[in-house]
Amino acid sequence: SKIFAFSIRKDEEPYLKEWAAAHPAVEVDYTDKLLTPETAKLAKGADGVVVYQQLDYTPETLQALADLGITKMSLRNVGVDNIDMDKAKELGFEITNVPVYSPNAIAEHAAIQTARILRQTKRLDAKIAHGDLRWAPTIGREVRDQTVGIIGTGHIGRVYMQIMEGFGAKVIAYDVYKNPELDKKGYYVDSLDDLYKQADVVSLHVPAMDSNYHMINDETIAEMKDDAVLVNVSRGPLVDTAAVVRALDSGKLFGFVMDTYENEVGIFNEDWTGKEFPDKVLKDLINRPNVLVTPHTAFYTTHAVRNMVVKAFDNNLALVEGQTPETPVEVK
Ligand code: NAD
Ligand code: COI
Repeated sequence: SKIFAFSIRKDEEPYLKEWAAAHPAVEVDYTDKLLTPETAKLAKGADGVVVYQQLDYTPETLQALADLGITKMSLRNVGVDNIDMDKAKELGFEITNVPVYSPNAIAEHAAIQTARILRQTKRLDAKIAHGDLRWAPTIGREVRDQTVGIIGTGHIGRVYMQIMEGFGAKVIAYDVYKNPELDKKGYYVDSLDDLYKQADVVSLHVPAMDSNYHMINDETIAEMKDDAVLVNVSRGPLVDTAAVVRALDSGKLFGFVMDTYENEVGIFNEDWTGKEFPDKVLKDLINRPNVLVTPHTAFYTTHAVRNMVVKAFDNNLALVEGQTPETPVEVK
């Protein structure tokens, strides 16, 4: 059988080659190009494709693959929101994704950034860089003195919880679905209001949906403790960025960890060096000493990227060989 992979980055190549070497009976080929109606033809002769992109999988793109007899598609990431499911269903596509590639990658990043905010490392680094080696007023807050409120106790939220507990924090949590083990141990508060009132650190680990758009806004920030820290390594639309800017200006929030931004598409993972920066609000946040912006890199570790590649190829091989893949996506 033959599997063709689209938009393979340099950092993914070694893992693709490792998988190919371990599966000598499978012919593997790839391109760094995104999958479009035009590039689809590169996969000619393949039985299945492995893909990852933020660009839409449009009806035309899916049709172009189907015209080549290819209807088995494996995503290297979680999100399937950019696939035209009606067309995929009409064409009989079988699709897989990688829902869990490394919760630790994202949770560790969140924990590191939380600790950095509490110790004011950005401010301290800037002082040191220009020769100011005085201690005051850049005093830290210890993690063990914080109550950390975790919204969403899924794969990532639970690892973040363990790391913060390792530092000695008191952890409280909220989830629409209560994990029985955590529930038994009494982690859950009854409502988001309760969490906002009690937490020194509020960290988001829920998927973005219409129902939680801008769940962090002027009203919910007002419920939080003074000097609270907000952590969003989940999805940009969960946070009303303008409300956070107001809360940073007023001093209500002590700091903000931002790995995802509501207007990130087309801005993150691009090089703006020497070009006009496209977003004033983002530029202002990047320049603030108590805001840590990263361009959606929480997931970006060798462990995660390897799993994204390897698990997607495993899934695609299962599809191609008519077996049940580990993580099928419902095409509906
Ligand atoms: P998961 O599905 O394992 O957990 C999500 C949890 O959120 C579940 O326990 C679910 O019950 C809960 N939940 C859903 N809606 C809720 C609501 N309205 N209120 C409270 N809880 C709710 O997902 P995960 O693997 O832990 O990932 C969490 C999120 O992290 C993803 O949805 C994604 O947005 C984000 N993410 C970010 C990166 C990154 O690089 N920054 C990478 C991967 C995932
Ligand atoms: C996800 O997997 O949902 C992410 O947020 C990471 C993605 C940009 C590869």
